[in-house]
Amino acid sequence: EPEVIRDKAAMRAWSRRRRAEGKTVAVVPTMGYLHQGHLSLISAAAAASADPVAIVVTIYVNPSQFAPSEDLATYPSDFAGDLRKLASTGVVDAVFNPPDLYVRGAGRRAAATGGAISCLEEEEAAGDGHETWVRVERLEKGMCGASRPVFFRGVATIVSKLFNIIEPDVAVFGKKDYQQWRVICRMVRDLDFAIEIIGSEIVREADGLAMSSRNVHLSREEREKALSISRSLVDARTGALKGNTDCKQIKNKIVQTLTETGGQVDYVEIVEQESLVPVEQIDGPVVICVAAWFGKVRLIDNIEIDTR
Ligand code: PAJ
Repeated sequence: EPEVIRDKAAMRAWSRRRRAEGKTVAVVPTMGYLHQGHLSLISAAAAASADPVAIVVTIYVNPSQFAPSEDLATYPSDFAGDLRKLASTGVVDAVFNPPDLYVRGAGRRAAATGGAISCLEEEEAAGDGHETWVRVERLEKGMCGASRPVFFRGVATIVSKLFNIIEPDVAVFGKKDYQQWRVICRMVRDLDFAIEIIGSEIVREADGLAMSSRNVHLSREEREKALSISRSLVDARTGALKGNTDCKQIKNKIVQTLTETGGQVDYVEIVEQESLVPVEQIDGPVVICVAAWFGKVRLIDNIEIDTR
């Protein structure tokens, strides 16, 4: 049974004790409602070092990465179920589940009508709460950052806070959130966090749909239609490996397929794997990233391609 820790000082003390015992501390940050994708990150954490690894899974739905118009209020949760899943892995030592990690102001509601940009709503508008932000200035702007302008600011900041509280040696992120993984890698490099970042492969359902906590909000019909995301990505990769490497053509085809199956495309981009700079021709390591709405659910997926 993993130990559940809610207090940040207790978390830091726990982590320092493990380090003093000679263990490698690995963290897997999540927002809960765990599925096989999350559990695969835990396996990657367990394999991260030849030394004994102490694994901390964090479960915290971070308000600062949601805009007021987004789905913070309906974000799924099942803490008891999550704990059972984590216990069943047999390798998770601690679960960090803090009630709130932000400095909160008085939240003068009068001010909250204007100016709030994330779900730290009242405080952000009133200007009396948390105010220090980590921004990865170029990487945060494209793709998911274009339609979710505060998202990566919120992610980089909460991940920095978790890193400062837990002081891990290793942290594992899924490539499902490809841009997020690259943003964190860049942040760690730029700010000299002494933490190794592991990017872990996407886990899919048997039919190809990338696992996501948000999939639970898809109706049966929407879920079926959403398969066009992974299918169009696999087709694009097959095509690219056969020589269809023109990005404009590839993107048009994906947009067309997604639209025909009832998806509302947010973006389709083909970018270099590390810099996330868009390319016109596939002739090295690239990743095709997609975000599309099916009903009220925004889904993301991607596929790495290297034609060399
Ligand atoms: P969450 O969406 O819960 O995802 C937690 C981690 O699980 C992320 O690193 C994500 O990439 C990974 N993950 C989710 N689905 C996956 C899949 N199908 N295959 C592989 N990995 C998968 O991402 C977040 O939470 C938050 O932004 C967080 C980093 C915790 C900051 O709040």
